[in-house]
Amino acid sequence: MSPDQRSSFLAEHIDRLARTHLRELLKDAVRGKRLRHRLGPLLLDLSRQKLDVAALDALGAHVEASGWQAARDAMFAGAPINTSEDRAVLHTALRASGSKLSSPAPREALDEISETLKRIDALVHAVGLGDASAFGVAPGITDVVNIGIGGSDLGPRLAERALAPYHVPGLRSHFLTNVDGQSAYELMHQLDPKRTLIVMVSKTFTTQETLLNGNVMRDWISRAYEGEVTAVSRHFLAVSANVAAAEAWGVPAAQVYPMWDFVGGRFSLWSAVGLSLALAIGCYNFHALLKGAALVDDHFRTAPWQENLPVLLSLVELWNRNAQGRGSRAVVPYADLLTDLTSYLQQLEMESLGKQVTPQGKPVAQSTSPVVWGSVGTNAQHAYFQSLHQGTDVVPLEFIGVVKPAHHLVANHDALLSNLLAQAAALALGKTFDEALAEAKQGSEEERHVLAAQRTFPGDRPSTVMLLDQLTPESLGALIALYEHKVFMLGHLWGINAFDQWGVELGKSIARQILPALENEGANTSAFDLSTQFLLDTIHDRRLTLAKHDR
Ligand code: F6P
Repeated sequence: MSPDQRSSFLAEHIDRLARTHLRELLKDAVRGKRLRHRLGPLLLDLSRQKLDVAALDALGAHVEASGWQAARDAMFAGAPINTSEDRAVLHTALRASGSKLSSPAPREALDEISETLKRIDALVHAVGLGDASAFGVAPGITDVVNIGIGGSDLGPRLAERALAPYHVPGLRSHFLTNVDGQSAYELMHQLDPKRTLIVMVSKTFTTQETLLNGNVMRDWISRAYEGEVTAVSRHFLAVSANVAAAEAWGVPAAQVYPMWDFVGGRFSLWSAVGLSLALAIGCYNFHALLKGAALVDDHFRTAPWQENLPVLLSLVELWNRNAQGRGSRAVVPYADLLTDLTSYLQQLEMESLGKQVTPQGKPVAQSTSPVVWGSVGTNAQHAYFQSLHQGTDVVPLEFIGVVKPAHHLVANHDALLSNLLAQAAALALGKTFDEALAEAKQGSEEERHVLAAQRTFPGDRPSTVMLLDQLTPESLGALIALYEHKVFMLGHLWGINAFDQWGVELGKSIARQILPALENEGANTSAFDLSTQFLLDTIHDRRLTLAKHDR
């Protein structure tokens, strides 16, 4: 165990709990009460985490000593806590309209947000009525394509799919994100250019993938109008903090919706970045999403640590990561509608918390972001759960379920939920060698022992269960905000800036250097490392060979 995992204030608890199986811990009702909490439509059950009351209180004392309330209040008030970019972090102000508390965010920011929400409402309303010409949009739109990547894609994509039962009729949504031309190619074959509205979403409006995909779709629409620029522009809206670049690219100023430097891309669903979502589910539901998030904001601002869901989630993660040394966490929603939750959380958590230096440029004192991965259950059970039950590494899990589905297929849903509950129980309880031996009825004594060894489950594997009453705009907003604040708390506790992302820059700049060498066969590649040179040469060679075959 490395020193960072054995933080001295937790050492005694780590040792004690290493000797205590979850089977034992689960018998303690008082402990269970401390680890189960409800907030509106959300239930959080942390009782299968390997913590007892004493360890939880030690973690609580740590968080209390950390000055978390002051740090939290500074974020809500718009202090420039993203120090490497000298920016405020005000995604909570985006949903202040749904809050019961008054917002401490700067008035100017709140006014701009409220103006933008009004613009979104008016546009969505007009599109719903079938005539958004006053907003520069062509008539007869049937398909909306959100072009964006990372935070300009994952949030709207997650929510659009999660809220499929709330979709307005007559308008289909699509998401074009990867620079792989395959998706654009397929969309162009599927859609009618004269009935397609493109929403270009890019905070910076410099992102290669988004601009390339935008160019492809613009050319496609342009061909349908024989290059008539004004007609083409009626098929484009943009969302950006770089309004000048969006305009220069060809979206008229009146059709550009603002983003702000005080909102990070991965926290931006609640802004105009959610425009394609708002078009898909209508204004009422979009506001309900904001309201759900505001419910968690209010809770985060007021609840003591013992009952504060984001704080408790962050303490459990701190415990698993730093005290137990777990390097990854699996997120397994038992809901097909939440298929995109894991990739959304990968960006939210790993782009925010995958840091190794403090804002002062010093190495961090402990490990930071675990790898977040996962996929929907029950499919996951038939793929990688074997390893989660009997593999050599312990991976904490997060199970997310929905009590009441949006359909009437009760038998399916009961089967789904029973699997969720069963997996959480099996991982925690396991099956002892003696239990497995008692089940092995056939064969010699030796054969029974050999089989029992393979049919033993260690158990003692931690998981969290989150249950949403129903998957509604409000509960989804609450769920996402819960994770956002957990991320904030971990950034605070780990002493890192959770709101910048310098780690994505190096690859981008090398790609810019490599591109000309891919485009021009004869380009001088000697500046690249030998592996890159070899791969570039191979690609050029193979292209020639494949072209010959095509002839
Ligand atoms: O490359 C990472 C990133 O900057 C993310 O942080 C961001 O969400 C994404 O790219 C898209 O950026 P933009 O909205 O500026 O196109």
